[in-house]
Amino acid sequence: MCGIVGYVGNKKAVPVLIDGLCCLEYRGYDSAGIAVIENNQLCVMKEKGRVDNLKAISGIDDLNSTIGIAHTRWATHGKPSQENAHPQIDNSNQFAVVHNGIIENYHELRDFLTQKGYHFVSQTDTEVIPNLIHYYYQNGITDEDKFLRAVKSAVDDLKGSYAIEVISNLFPNRLIVVRKDSPLVIGKGKGENFVASDIPAILSHTKDFYLLDDNEYAVIEGDSVHFFDNSLSEHSKAVRIIEWDATVVEKNGYEDYMLKEIYEQPNSIRETIGARLKLGEKCDFDDIAITKEYLNNIRQIYIVACGTAMHAGLVGKNAIEKLCHIPTQVDIASEFRYREPIIDDKTLCIYISQSGETADTIAALKLAKSKGAKTLAISNVMGSSITREADYTLYTHAGPEIAVASTKAYTSQVVLLIMLAIHLAEVLKSAQTEELEDLKSAILNLPAQLEAVLDETEEVKNFAKRIYSEHDMYFLGRGIDYCVAMEGSLKLKEISYIHSEAYAAGELKHGPIALIENGVTVIGILTNSHLVEKSISNLQEVVSRGAKTLVITNQKLNNTNFNTIINIPETNSLVSPILSIVPLQLLSYYISKNKGLDVDKPINLAKSVTVE
Ligand code: M6R
Repeated sequence: MCGIVGYVGNKKAVPVLIDGLCCLEYRGYDSAGIAVIENNQLCVMKEKGRVDNLKAISGIDDLNSTIGIAHTRWATHGKPSQENAHPQIDNSNQFAVVHNGIIENYHELRDFLTQKGYHFVSQTDTEVIPNLIHYYYQNGITDEDKFLRAVKSAVDDLKGSYAIEVISNLFPNRLIVVRKDSPLVIGKGKGENFVASDIPAILSHTKDFYLLDDNEYAVIEGDSVHFFDNSLSEHSKAVRIIEWDATVVEKNGYEDYMLKEIYEQPNSIRETIGARLKLGEKCDFDDIAITKEYLNNIRQIYIVACGTAMHAGLVGKNAIEKLCHIPTQVDIASEFRYREPIIDDKTLCIYISQSGETADTIAALKLAKSKGAKTLAISNVMGSSITREADYTLYTHAGPEIAVASTKAYTSQVVLLIMLAIHLAEVLKSAQTEELEDLKSAILNLPAQLEAVLDETEEVKNFAKRIYSEHDMYFLGRGIDYCVAMEGSLKLKEISYIHSEAYAAGELKHGPIALIENGVTVIGILTNSHLVEKSISNLQEVVSRGAKTLVITNQKLNNTNFNTIINIPETNSLVSPILSIVPLQLLSYYISKNKGLDVDKPINLAKSVTVE
């Protein structure tokens, strides 16, 4: 939930650290801090609030150190405040630590250290770490690499998840990092090396990365990186070259990352399709090599994820059941992991996670693996934790998504799931070639159709202007449109702080219609020709009770009295969510802008949820 950056090399560390933190603010933004080694002393500067407050601390620009660690926080233990901000230091001011994750046994460790005479100044779980390092450094470690051994002894005591960076004025050229269940990458430069929670934070400095594994340590100096396993045996590690252009993490003239990412969707979909799909040819999923024998043996599929990724899974379920006739359930990861689902070796479990770091989704994956199921991860982040755990991985290739509200990742997940369903149907021979070819052609048309949708946004902007001050809204749809209604409603809540509910339109009469009163806003999604008449009837019921209506449709609607109708291009009903979600993404965006909110960093939310 927090962002960490590190630098050791030949340049001034502070500007590199601050730039990195600015890129990582989407991971947490309630306080920020840095620690550097200045004149052989640890120097820590931290401040409550955004990175801008840290930048404004007097004297920060005068620090000349060429080594440092930095952190931007999303509070878990202890309120957002200066003393709870990271870096945290030990009682002797010799070890500074930044940490992303949660130390579950910190109470125990605090008691232990208190008995040994240590005191604590913050309410964080993290503060035990530098003090434990100090404790082990002082006590009983006599070999020459005392720093690494002290860090390792401290880490051995920790239960929970962590990505940790440590510096010490006793070793002024050395940065030590270790991770477990929290992301951390190392960027390799010339005479300098970088550390970050996420690749984009240091992409402007290097394209050469080491992806640290769980329980792996790295000892980093300006001209070297040494890797050690959990027994501190040294090993070598291959560099991965990340081909992204550094501009992918810039706003490129857009006011906000969210708007940029909405407009990137024609391209991100092209990237997701890549070389997998060609008319008249079988879908190319050679990278996961799922055989016909295996699939014939499968009795059920679970799709497990959180939030927006789970909503993408709902569309995936429709595609898989329609084309492959395999019963498919979609589960919220935090429910799945505790509800004792029926899983065996005849179960395929698909896990969707943009970040690949969502704690509940990873735990749900580990559960299925332990019960003998095959696991397939769908992620946007190369080398992310989920991709390391899963038997198979498919990447969405949507490019970095910075805004907290997920947009392009969702549409890429949906496209990938539909292509996967086509592939499974081709292996199983469970669908007519014509039907599959029609779907392929619909997918290939999506980028151009998305461009058309993104060219016509006046109606959405006007509607947003009319309704932005409301307190409640309702989203209705049937079938696949209901999946989109859920995602539209989530987007609205997240970035505009307006209460909203999504209902299957047919459920309206079974309770929710009691909430419909004069002037309330109802948004209908109508893209399925078989269901359109039924949905229109449901919407007429709310119109006659005085609701204001916005309808997103690819159907010809005659004689309706909806307030605003947004027409989107016609397409195969399975892929319609990729087009119908776009006006809803824009609606949330413009409502949020009308309210003067921070679109990219909504309150209480962080981009990747690495805690339960
Ligand atoms: O990184 P993940 O896809 O696993 O994240 C899952 C959810 O936390 C995420 O989709 C969340 O709901 C978004 N903020 C929605 O916009």
